[in-house]
Amino acid sequence: MIQEINTKTLNMKTRIQEKYKALFGEEAPVYASAGRINLIGEHTDYNGGYVFPGAINFGIMAAIKPNGTDKVKVFSLDFDQMSEFGLKEEDKPKEAWACYVFGVCRETLKRGGKVEGFNAVFAGDVPLGAGLSSSAALESTFAYALNDIWDNKIEKFELAKIGQSTEHNYCGVKCGIMDQFASIFGKEGALIRLNCKTGEYKYFPFHPKGYKLVLIDSCVKHELASSAYNKRRESCEKAAAEIKKLHPEVDFLSDAKRLWLDEVRDKISQEDFLRAEYVIGEVQRVLDVCDALERDDYETVGEMMYQTHFGLSRLYEVSCEELDFLNKLARKMDVTGSRVMGGGFGGCTINLVKDELYDGFIKAAKEQFTAKFGHAPKIYEVVISDGARKLQ
Ligand code: GLA
Repeated sequence: MIQEINTKTLNMKTRIQEKYKALFGEEAPVYASAGRINLIGEHTDYNGGYVFPGAINFGIMAAIKPNGTDKVKVFSLDFDQMSEFGLKEEDKPKEAWACYVFGVCRETLKRGGKVEGFNAVFAGDVPLGAGLSSSAALESTFAYALNDIWDNKIEKFELAKIGQSTEHNYCGVKCGIMDQFASIFGKEGALIRLNCKTGEYKYFPFHPKGYKLVLIDSCVKHELASSAYNKRRESCEKAAAEIKKLHPEVDFLSDAKRLWLDEVRDKISQEDFLRAEYVIGEVQRVLDVCDALERDDYETVGEMMYQTHFGLSRLYEVSCEELDFLNKLARKMDVTGSRVMGGGFGGCTINLVKDELYDGFIKAAKEQFTAKFGHAPKIYEVVISDGARKLQ
């Protein structure tokens, strides 16, 4: 597997470098960052709770070098398209993918960093719309690279925030910090528990002996950018604001006790109540999973994953028929843990599967899913890998 990853990295790097040379007639350093998984802690980040992500062996790579002008020329190998833009607020490019790069430039400038014109070529292998944070990988690659090239000395956590603000201000998604954090801070073989309220984090080595971590992509596109995600966030903020009236110490929903939510039951809509109920439960589950991991208790980890799926499906309502189907099948086949991962509304389930059950489960998932939905799911075996970096 590691050999495979190295070859994959090398191939992408070569393709990018060749294209850069062909377009701009010189060589440029190459930077990379990664997509992410999240073992548990979904929709908790913007509620000031815990998340537990890790960077993966699917990412974005970019060759980048200043061009001595005040214009950016960036070429996407995957879209086979060039975008050119200036660095002022009114220069937002028309290509949706280029807005991520533009946003990162703008957010770096807003923080007092230096960014001047540059040329870039990038490519990636994070499946789009699968909930693996291809956009965070793109933002983090550029945020890291610009900081390195102009020696801006912006702190790593702030680099993650540059990506998050890009989503907020240039892409219309009011996301939390999880994806960009994982993409910037990711480390091979380790998951990271982040307290999204305080910014404290801790690496947990993750080498589940006897288990595999596998993603099953329903290939149903999630509508993260659509209003649904932002609407969930609003529900949580409404519930938190109501609880705060009785318990002023509550700044985020994650600060609230389950009992306090009951106290405001009549003050909020049934829908907002269910959303909040899910979040409060999920924050605790992250801590329980981390404790279980320290005991190598994967059965508890898996059980918590199923509980999260139930919550995301029935209370938070971000699952869909295809993902519920995959989850149910996992349960039926004694898979240790399974749940919808990421923002939801399509994308992947993440599954913790015993080695001896793995082949049978994957075969059944492919066959039964295809028979029911008329298209095959995709299978990604993930390896927890490094996040943002400059390649040698
Ligand atoms: C998306 C967002 C994250 C997080 C997850 C759900 O990936 O970008 O900030 O909210 O959804 O956990």
